[in-house]
Amino acid sequence: MASKEPQHRPETIAITAGRPEVGADSALNQPISLNSTFVAGGPIGYGRYGNETWTALEVAIAALEGGKTLSYSSGMAAISAVFSTLPVGAKIVASDQGYAGVMTLLGTLSAAKKITVKFVAIEDTDAVLAALDGADLLWIESPTNPSLDVADLPTLIKHAKSRNILVAVDNTFATALIQQPLAMGADIVMNSVTKYLAGHSDIVLGSLSTNDPIQFKALEDARKINGSIPGPFEAWLALRGIRTFPLRFQRASENAMELATRLSQHPLVTRVRYPGLPTDPQHFKAEAFMKGFGAIVSFEYAGSAAAADKVCESSKIITYATSLGGVESLWERRRRWPIESASVPETLIRLSVGCEDVDDLWLDIESALLAGK
Ligand SMILES: Cc1ncc(COP(=O)(O)O)c(C=O)c1O
Repeated sequence: MASKEPQHRPETIAITAGRPEVGADSALNQPISLNSTFVAGGPIGYGRYGNETWTALEVAIAALEGGKTLSYSSGMAAISAVFSTLPVGAKIVASDQGYAGVMTLLGTLSAAKKITVKFVAIEDTDAVLAALDGADLLWIESPTNPSLDVADLPTLIKHAKSRNILVAVDNTFATALIQQPLAMGADIVMNSVTKYLAGHSDIVLGSLSTNDPIQFKALEDARKINGSIPGPFEAWLALRGIRTFPLRFQRASENAMELATRLSQHPLVTRVRYPGLPTDPQHFKAEAFMKGFGAIVSFEYAGSAAAADKVCESSKIITYATSLGGVESLWERRRRWPIESASVPETLIRLSVGCEDVDDLWLDIESALLAGK
């Protein structure tokens, strides 16, 4: 298995990592291993313990994020794996606004008295630091979904680690291309591989990466028993997606910057959130440690929730659908989901900017904004 070349840049790593050893007639791409069982005597043994196609994917993600990686059947399975390794009664400090699935999971675990959670505004560094006393885990999502609030990762990680608190970061929106939490000292990095890494809206998959061998072993042992493993075909598709991930992410980010700028000047838009906009309240913080700003733009429509729904229904190129991170642009009014946080404005539309032509996207947005009136 080809391994990480530390001197290589992410654009090269995405293309070279996780390939079979080169030899005469060796396969260029890792084949899909469709096996539930393996001949005795080797390191895999059984299809719930390991799989060569997952391993190739895990090598590639680890080469981008650092550390070693485990893949999971979904991003939520990866997140659940982190929470499930905590002792009963563990104290978690987490963002009060983040991916609705995580918010729901934390609420459920806390209602069942398995954990206690202190929710804080993750962009308010002083508030997070004040909440850390006695915490076992600091769970950071940054930028947050869908409000695009930015946590001061270097400061939060440094302080939490100086107090021996486990730090886990959901890197789905930023990706390893623009922020590398493990290099900043975080213990665990999570990705919904479903999104940018895979990049084609055709699979659901997750990953955890860590530098800590003890943490890795605990998570790997738990995955073997809990069984939240990826399918080999999904792992293969994700690895194929990673080959073009930097190209896609760069193009989508450029489109996002342009569209955020145009949206912020549109009379039917009351507010735009995009950390790349100099007018965004989180811009200067983000700029200090992020290498880019990603490809999600959230904006509020000047009208009712029903009118914002109509905007989403009226586009021709952008699809009215949930999820994000694919080559195709998607948008939705987040509050259409009952589990979305009440702190998210009713008319907030989250736009996952894809790789289409930016002017075509803008014409589509302009006509949809007018159709909502
Ligand atoms: C920031 C973030 N984290 C985690 C998840 C969960 O990932 P998955 O849908 O792959 O389970 C999502 C899904 O939208 C997300 O946006």
